[in-house]
Amino acid sequence: MIARLTWIAMAIGVAMAVSTASTAGTDAKYVGADKCKTCHKKELIGDQYSAWQKSAHAKAFDRLKGDEAKKVAAAKGIAGAPHEAKECLECHATAAAVDASRMAEKPLDVKDGVQCESCHGPGSEYRKKKTMSDHAAAVAAGMWEPGKKAAICTACHNEKSPTWDPAKGFDFEARKKAIAHPIPANVKGRYDAAAKEAKGK
Ligand code: HEC
Ligand code: HEC
Ligand code: HEC
Ligand code: HEC
Repeated sequence: MIARLTWIAMAIGVAMAVSTASTAGTDAKYVGADKCKTCHKKELIGDQYSAWQKSAHAKAFDRLKGDEAKKVAAAKGIAGAPHEAKECLECHATAAAVDASRMAEKPLDVKDGVQCESCHGPGSEYRKKKTMSDHAAAVAAGMWEPGKKAAICTACHNEKSPTWDPAKGFDFEARKKAIAHPIPANVKGRYDAAAKEAKGK
């Protein structure tokens, strides 16, 4: 009986955690990778911006212009160009996946492919440095935790993708490693102090 009650309590706890996660930062808007670039192109912090720019995600829109994409689209019976087709863009570009009403002043561009916020959440409320430096505050302001939630990835990496390979599936841990762009260990959690040290040198 006690064990059963514990399970029920845990189930309620999980349900609450899930609903908080999905409603947190609902007013937050998508700002685009350019806005993250200001701080995250710095070498000291780990230059996540350049790592992303070189990644398949940043190039996911360009991919839709290639010959393979044309074949894939034709096989799906899509008449127009794949890089103009909603059916392809919804996973290959953040700008197409997000409703226009969720975007900040400057709308995102499909050309930028899968951007930071498709994995980290809409950034208008958490991108201030003070908020960014406090993990709990950033999460409360709408920052997602893609390291802990495979569902963020499998929103796109799933069997609805025309090139999905069911034999390969989606190995969350391995795929995370493949896109790793960490903050260096000696900077993580103490950016301001590290920046001061770097200046002193
Ligand atoms: C449900 C999300 C989703 C949709 C819809 C989607 N894609 Fe993709 N696409 C992906 C993912 C995820 C990958 C990366 C595959 C991987 O994990 O290697 C991908 C990869 C590709 C590739 C590269 C394949 C390779 O072998 O590396 C091409 C080409 C492509 N997609 C074309 C298209 C076209 C054309 C459409 C529209 C008809 C489309 N995709 C629709 C998610 C999607
Ligand atoms: C395809 C998804 C994806 C995209 C796109 C992406 N990230 Fe990440 N990012 C992750 C994941 C997953 C992690 C690892 C999180 C963890 O281990 O907790 C991460 C980690 C980070 C970290 C390091 C956190 C730490 O604790 O070391 C920073 C900073 C970051 N991302 C910023 C960015 C920025 C800025 C962009 C765009 C220029 C971007 N990311 C694009 C998924 C993504
Ligand atoms: C908005 C949709 C979307 C989300 C969310 C997303 N991806 Fe992707 N991902 C793609 C697309 C599309 C491609 C293929 C890009 C291409 O090759 O043109 C891709 C490619 C990749 C690749 C490169 C595959 C290769 O063979 O080079 C890895 C690794 C990857 N994703 C990991 C992740 C991880 C880990 C997450 C979650 C933290 C994630 N992705 C979230 C759409 C997404
Ligand atoms: C004004 C500067 C600034 C901007 C703009 C900014 N960040 Fe950050 N971000 C930081 C700093 C500084 C840290 C590191 C804090 C530390 O570890 O001391 C950080 C940390 C992070 C982390 C790790 C947070 C954690 O607690 O795990 C992620 C993820 C991240 N940023 C993503 C983004 C994304 C995505 C954007 C754009 C929407 C963005 N940041 C915009 C300064 C910024």
